[in-house]
Amino acid sequence: MKYPENVITAFKAQFGHPPTLVVRAPGRINLIGEHTDYNQGFVLPAAIDKAVYFAAAPLDAPRLDCLAENFGAFVRIQLTDIQPVAEGWPNFLLGVYDELQKAGFRPGGVQLVMGGDIPAGAGLSSSAAVESGMLHVLNHLYQLNIPTLELVKLAQRSENNFIGLQCGIMDMFASQMGREQCAIRLDCRSLAYEYVPFHAEAYRLVLCDTAVKHNLADSEYNTRRATCEESVRLLQPHFPDVQSLRDVTPEMLGMAQDLLPPLHYRRCKHIVTENARVLASCAALEQDDFVQFGALMFASHDSLQHDYEVSCPELDFLVAQARTNPAVAGARMMGGGFGGCTLNLVEKNSVEAFEKAQKAAYLKEFGVELHCFGVSLVEGVGVVRSEE
Ligand code: GLA
Repeated sequence: MKYPENVITAFKAQFGHPPTLVVRAPGRINLIGEHTDYNQGFVLPAAIDKAVYFAAAPLDAPRLDCLAENFGAFVRIQLTDIQPVAEGWPNFLLGVYDELQKAGFRPGGVQLVMGGDIPAGAGLSSSAAVESGMLHVLNHLYQLNIPTLELVKLAQRSENNFIGLQCGIMDMFASQMGREQCAIRLDCRSLAYEYVPFHAEAYRLVLCDTAVKHNLADSEYNTRRATCEESVRLLQPHFPDVQSLRDVTPEMLGMAQDLLPPLHYRRCKHIVTENARVLASCAALEQDDFVQFGALMFASHDSLQHDYEVSCPELDFLVAQARTNPAVAGARMMGGGFGGCTLNLVEKNSVEAFEKAQKAAYLKEFGVELHCFGVSLVEGVGVVRSEE
């Protein structure tokens, strides 16, 4: 049985009645613009056809009854005094309640079955999908009437405050605001956005999952963010208009070399050049110039590998392999880094051969089976079924 039917069936078995609401919350890819979101810069993400599904019904008690269909775990948690729980996974749901309560909303309890096909730890933002989906479930069930852009911000705050990852807004924005066959060019300072059609008829977007789980990622992620903020403080006496690394121009970057410690300079260089690559990518995609866009993907990887230093040997290896393949227009590591997937732009007719070659090379080098899969760009969070 496929999604969402299996979560609906599981709901009936668990609670003895059908759900009143079914919501789909997609994962995301990012075409380009990595680690720029929390520097108030530009990103180009998209929602993908891998999602978390929620079958839900209101509960006449302040309680969360939730079955995680993927691993068959059930929790029953009181919502009167919300505290993080040891199981880990329910915290993504509790964080949403916590932020809603802080914002003055009082949604009631829920019966929930949650399950999906976003591979965990692959850097496809399953956690942002869970937070985003849960917010839409509560918004709908309890008619909170919160506009989507506010739900995006609430999802980010619940990750920042309850989970403790100081992530930017990109993942939640993509999961909730995605559009079919489009990427989203998002200005993370103003939240102004524009849909960029992705008409890659001759190409397919293929993910290669290193299966390296980003253990280091959370602490390193917050460290990267802190170094960027420190760089801003170091630059401000010389450039008073710089409020974030977004404001550093290529000219300032030249001067920054003498003003910043070498590590700070490298981090800063990545952000400045990556923001420029996002804008250049949008221009290339508007012309359907996938060769140019592919070259920018490779350049983004180099910068993430050498300047921002968030890659890992497995990611570097897969990108280096892809580079030698004439059917690949571009490839790069994607997301926070230290593991997860590479994103590859591959000629459609050569996808099978590409996957085969990548799998064989990876097995030989690391002794690990590589999982490869194509993705399509889809609509953001949506109600699949509702009884009202
Ligand atoms: C993670 C974060 C995002 C973003 C990326 C890197 O996915 O959740 O906010 O910073 O890393 O681009």
